[in-house]
Amino acid sequence: MNPQLLTVSYLAAGALFIFSLGGLSHQESARRGNIFGMLGMAIAILATMLSGKVDGFEKLIPAMIIGALIGIVVAKKVEMTSMPELVAGFHSFVGAAAVMVGFASYLDPTAHFEGAEKTIHDVEVYLGVFIGIITFTGSVIAFGKLRGSISGKPLMLPARHWLNLIMLVACIYFGYAFLVADSHNDGVIPLLIMTVIAGIIGIHLIMAIGGADMPVVVSMLNSYSGWAAAATGFMLSNIALIVVGALVGSSGAILSYIMCRAMNRHFVSVILGGFGTSGGSAAADEEAGEVTATNAEEVAAMLKDASEVIIVPGYGMAVAQAQNTVSDIVKKLRSKGVNVRFGIHPVAGRLPGHMNVLLAEAKVPYDIVLEMDELNDDFPDTDVSLVIGANDIVNPAAQTDPNSPIAGMPVLEVWKAKTSVVLKRSMASGYAGVDNPLFYKDNTEMLFGDAKESMDEVLRHLD
Ligand code: TAP
Repeated sequence: MNPQLLTVSYLAAGALFIFSLGGLSHQESARRGNIFGMLGMAIAILATMLSGKVDGFEKLIPAMIIGALIGIVVAKKVEMTSMPELVAGFHSFVGAAAVMVGFASYLDPTAHFEGAEKTIHDVEVYLGVFIGIITFTGSVIAFGKLRGSISGKPLMLPARHWLNLIMLVACIYFGYAFLVADSHNDGVIPLLIMTVIAGIIGIHLIMAIGGADMPVVVSMLNSYSGWAAAATGFMLSNIALIVVGALVGSSGAILSYIMCRAMNRHFVSVILGGFGTSGGSAAADEEAGEVTATNAEEVAAMLKDASEVIIVPGYGMAVAQAQNTVSDIVKKLRSKGVNVRFGIHPVAGRLPGHMNVLLAEAKVPYDIVLEMDELNDDFPDTDVSLVIGANDIVNPAAQTDPNSPIAGMPVLEVWKAKTSVVLKRSMASGYAGVDNPLFYKDNTEMLFGDAKESMDEVLRHLD
């Protein structure tokens, strides 16, 4: 392929990735956004393979087929609730690839760089490996935490900020040793030592982050994986990788910022860890008292009599796969003249946009699905707030208990409605491991049971 055509192909792929991101910002255009992304990736892969700079097709093609097959099987099998783990797993692959490309590029016997060009290439390798290994080890820990195989409690080592600083200074020192090394044999030693130290930084950074802040971690690692890909692009002089990496890196960083704002956290504090400590809060314990249980028939009657209803879905709706029944209930209530809207918290569920995806899948009209800020002031004028498998995002302790791990996180103020109905199976806490005083309020009624079964029964009673 001639170089101009290659550049044009990469530019087209880059433009498609930008359209893809634009499409993904709205539910109506998300499907189109995905198609743009897939098209862009297909063009980028094809152009790279035909660029004339790639050989070894006999190994490359079988490896690509095996990789594609694994990707298809994993993506088809994964439950929506396990998506964050899958994403963390994929980020770890990007990090590992950046490390391997970094070492391969540095030790490549056919590559000869001199003078300033050599220094620039060495800096690219060092930075690529540094970001790559932090992304790799951090993502592996995030995977374990999201899966529950590693405790969600933040690891609070004494003097942990100093420890991070010392490790960072050591990486800078070995970077200097790497750059002034006379030969690749000498240079590879500081590169290896830095890889081990930065790997520990990645583990330590994510271990220090508590359960409640994991959403930010997922998007932060997404951003890191983008920068690792961009660094790999620089090492390989591949424009497409640089563009994709920069897009993923910056959009991940913006998403992390949005998530931090949604959770009322400072970005730097989340990165340095210590928030989101598991465990109940004193205020919640003090408020613990009588719980009022209700049944599906009563809830159906309440909904029929209401004129304003706000539904707040959470992780439990995803677990129960109750979205289709919820959608049928909404249709029925709207046909009876009840104004039903959905209130979506930015970190509801286990991944950004989790609830929006489920509701779109169940064909709930987009115009009744509103963000928390758009309807949080409307609860006092609401007859029934129906909380379906949500817990942390409707916990009043976030506003009233300064010692709560979720203190300061904005929440949907469902308790301000005339009646709140909470659907869940037990009195268990949510992801952040915090008790919820909402369950004990006088105007709260608990509908215990699996959300899908409860919703099915409510639907039957609506007829
Ligand atoms: P959670 O606070 O995790 O609460 C979910 C509730 O659903 C649980 O209390 C559980 O209670 C109930 N539940 C589970 N299965 C159910 C079923 N089959 N039927 C009925 N109820 C069921 O969820 P949330 O309110 O959506 O808040 C999200 C939490 O996840 C936040 O702490 C957030 O920080 C964190 N997080 C979010 C993300 C993103 S990006 N969204 C990523 C990682 C972590 P029972 O066991 O009693 O049924």
